[in-house]
Amino acid sequence: MPNSRTVPPSNLAMEDIFLDEDSPKLVEFDANFRTFHLQAGSSQYSFCVDQYGSLEHLYYGNWVGSGHDLTYLSESDPSLTFETAPAGAQFTAGELKRMVEGEENIDSRQLWMLSTHMKSERGGDWHMARVENLTWRLRHLWEGKKEEAPVTASSILKVLERSSVSFREDSAADKADSGTARQSKRVIGARERNQLETESRPGRQGYKCSKLLEVSEFGTGDFRTPSLSVSFRKDGSRLLPLVYKKHQVISGIVPSTSGLPLLGARNRTGAQTLVVDMVDTYTELKVQLLYTLFPDISAVSRRVIVRNSSRLGMGDVDLVKCMSGTFDFLTNDWHLVSLHGGWACERNITTRRLQEGMVQLGSNRGVSSHQMNPFCVLTAGPPCEDHGLCYGFLLLYSGNWLMEVEQTQTGHVRVNVGLSDTHFSWDLGTQQSFESPECICVFSDKGLGGVTSTFHRLINERLIAPRWRDLICPVLINTWEALYFNVEHENIMKLARPAKDVGVELLVMDDGWFVDRNDDTTSLGDWIEDKKKLPRGLNGLAKDLNAMGLKLGIWMEPEMVNKSSVLYQEHPEWVLHHPARVRSEGRNQLVLDLTRSDVQDYIIQSVSNVLGGANIEYLKWDMNRALTDAYSAALPPSQQGEVYHRYVLGLYRIFEAVTLKFPHVLFESCASGGGRFDAALLAWCPQAWCSDNSDAYSRTRIQMGTSMWAPVRCMGAHIAACPSHQTHRTFMMKTRFIVALWGTFGLELDLNKLSREELDEVKELVALRKRLSQLTLHGSFFRLPGFGYPGAAHANSAGIGDSNVYAWMFVAPEQDRAVVSALIFHRDTVGRFPSRLKLRGLRPNLSYDITEHVPTPVAQGVFNGMFQAGGPTFKHQRRLQLSGLVLMEVGVPVHFNFDGDSLLLELTANS
Ligand code: GLA
Repeated sequence: MPNSRTVPPSNLAMEDIFLDEDSPKLVEFDANFRTFHLQAGSSQYSFCVDQYGSLEHLYYGNWVGSGHDLTYLSESDPSLTFETAPAGAQFTAGELKRMVEGEENIDSRQLWMLSTHMKSERGGDWHMARVENLTWRLRHLWEGKKEEAPVTASSILKVLERSSVSFREDSAADKADSGTARQSKRVIGARERNQLETESRPGRQGYKCSKLLEVSEFGTGDFRTPSLSVSFRKDGSRLLPLVYKKHQVISGIVPSTSGLPLLGARNRTGAQTLVVDMVDTYTELKVQLLYTLFPDISAVSRRVIVRNSSRLGMGDVDLVKCMSGTFDFLTNDWHLVSLHGGWACERNITTRRLQEGMVQLGSNRGVSSHQMNPFCVLTAGPPCEDHGLCYGFLLLYSGNWLMEVEQTQTGHVRVNVGLSDTHFSWDLGTQQSFESPECICVFSDKGLGGVTSTFHRLINERLIAPRWRDLICPVLINTWEALYFNVEHENIMKLARPAKDVGVELLVMDDGWFVDRNDDTTSLGDWIEDKKKLPRGLNGLAKDLNAMGLKLGIWMEPEMVNKSSVLYQEHPEWVLHHPARVRSEGRNQLVLDLTRSDVQDYIIQSVSNVLGGANIEYLKWDMNRALTDAYSAALPPSQQGEVYHRYVLGLYRIFEAVTLKFPHVLFESCASGGGRFDAALLAWCPQAWCSDNSDAYSRTRIQMGTSMWAPVRCMGAHIAACPSHQTHRTFMMKTRFIVALWGTFGLELDLNKLSREELDEVKELVALRKRLSQLTLHGSFFRLPGFGYPGAAHANSAGIGDSNVYAWMFVAPEQDRAVVSALIFHRDTVGRFPSRLKLRGLRPNLSYDITEHVPTPVAQGVFNGMFQAGGPTFKHQRRLQLSGLVLMEVGVPVHFNFDGDSLLLELTANS
């Protein structure tokens, strides 16, 4: 029975939720300085409520402890000269006096408010007072002068006078204001006091532009790209100055009300969430900032809930931008690492040095996309694999997304992570709320490798469904590159027999199995087996495969429909389209309108019929075109800006329903290869097809980039035919094996076209993969930097740029076993010697036996340089036994002999 106090209701009522008294606190709130200290593993994330009620970011770095007053960071930054000075941003002396008039007992919170809303005079000029120091001084003055207690209006003023604070003169407007106030007689009655606690007065904001902020709106002094934007329908205004109202720390996470995947949703052990309520005091629009922390993980996850609880009859609000998290950083030599590509070349690593201006990463294709991946890293200085300050960002979302990285005039950098605001608007009716997807910011002072290992842990431990967490992915054969659309019962059985013989466990029947699907022009939507190809149906095929000890997996593309299909004939209105316009096709198909619940239900039913009709244990869920014509016949005009996001929510609802119904079916996601390889889908599909390009060279670059945040066990990787169907390149089986071993592992080729010797080799390699799989799938993963030939080695990074040589390794949690892989693609470096390969993650004091697997079957003559069949050729003439320290500090010499040469080492510690 879960403890009801620790499980928040889905409709969050803040007052109902408390932190368990016995949980170690990950969030400290220092009420004196109104500072939050979040303990994120070995890192600390601190921010304070400033004198204007804004949340000022103070620090994100190594843990220094929550006992420190970090508000000095905020005091010592000057305001920007000539920056917009919000007139009347603070209370005048007159106002202060009026506010305290008649109040004899003032509590410390009111004192804080009063004493922070004023201006101090320095050197004759008026400056905005960074008055946390004033508060601090006041508090100490008070503590030292207990005899003056209780705190009264006159005693406050006395202390203020003594502390050389002077006040701005009342302006004519202020006087007029105060006239009105005086008429109401009670100047600091209950309502006003409440206002004091919740606002810095409407229209009175501080200098926001030079501050690091936790949330930012446009129009009241911060000119950087905002966290969110709204438009109030009633008066067309777009101003939304937010001030702190209250906060709460809860056990676990705040569940999503719209079905978004969240870290910790399936494993909230030890998690804590800080919820900070911000409010626009004029309209009462509320913005909740959610910060979730997990013990021992140096990461902060963030999201936002916007509530339209307008009291002024502002009516509907159009939410036109809603970022999940805003992260502001001080000046540094910032570099940005991101993942870019296209079809068949996804997630290559790009780096650039930031300069003034904005870098925008994102997708408006309706899917997270081949072109950009919702991930980036800020590095202080050029990116290094195992040292240096880094902040990694990942968005848990599968649709249109945006990351804005803006370097401003001051050198500060803002990173905004969230939904794309292109073609986005959300009609937020009164009392309605909107929640953003979750984004994660990982801190590492150990380079990109540190960012990677934290993301891998988070995804494995907090995102993937517990039933799949320790999965050893079955060795599969996929029919696509072996048979394409020619999937017939007999052909499949013909492929299944050698597959079984080499050790395959699962056969995945790809595209082509459903009614009349002989090419890509027809039948999507009609999910009924083609009896001409499968006379005994899916069930008959499953039975035959099961009888020989193989499982059956299947391909579907449930979000799509071809015009040539029964579904489209019956429901032409079920696709995304504008009724008066031509419907644009991609790969001859149209996109079903997943914003509609009837369409979602149809998909849930048709997938259930397929999965329920035969013993199917694996589903490859494909999605082969971007969204266009994003208009829904089912939504009113005011909600057409919601289509892209509602599509994604519809998709998540479908995934939730079918995975609940078929918990034993392993789902793999796919989108023309890796067009929707995002963290969100891993919540239901613990693996994703990396790319339609299964050539070992292209794949290495793709998997290097993907490994930045995605664990190895999530990356779909197969041994494919030679020459490659995508590049016509040829690599020896060993090299193709090494690349597939760095992922889920499978075969994607027609085994009937291999020679007996090749089949024997595949059999040996499959057996080796099974022996190493626990380690490669669930060990710690390391990219190995600094290895390469003259001119090609990128000193401190791995997988960045045009390197020719790549190396990576996997280490068991106990550090007693490891697997090391390295390969070269073009040996345009004859006669040159590479640097040594230095390993990572080992125990310095342990001695490791090194076994080289799969020796190369060619030898090179020393005197004429000629290659000839020979072998087995090992890279090392004797069996090495070396300490972890030597392997990591001194390294191993590795010489490659020809294009596509590779190395596979297994390390076993001597007991
Ligand atoms: C996409 C996938 C491929 C294959 C085909 C089938 O391109 O990425 O792996 O499933 O569709 O049409």
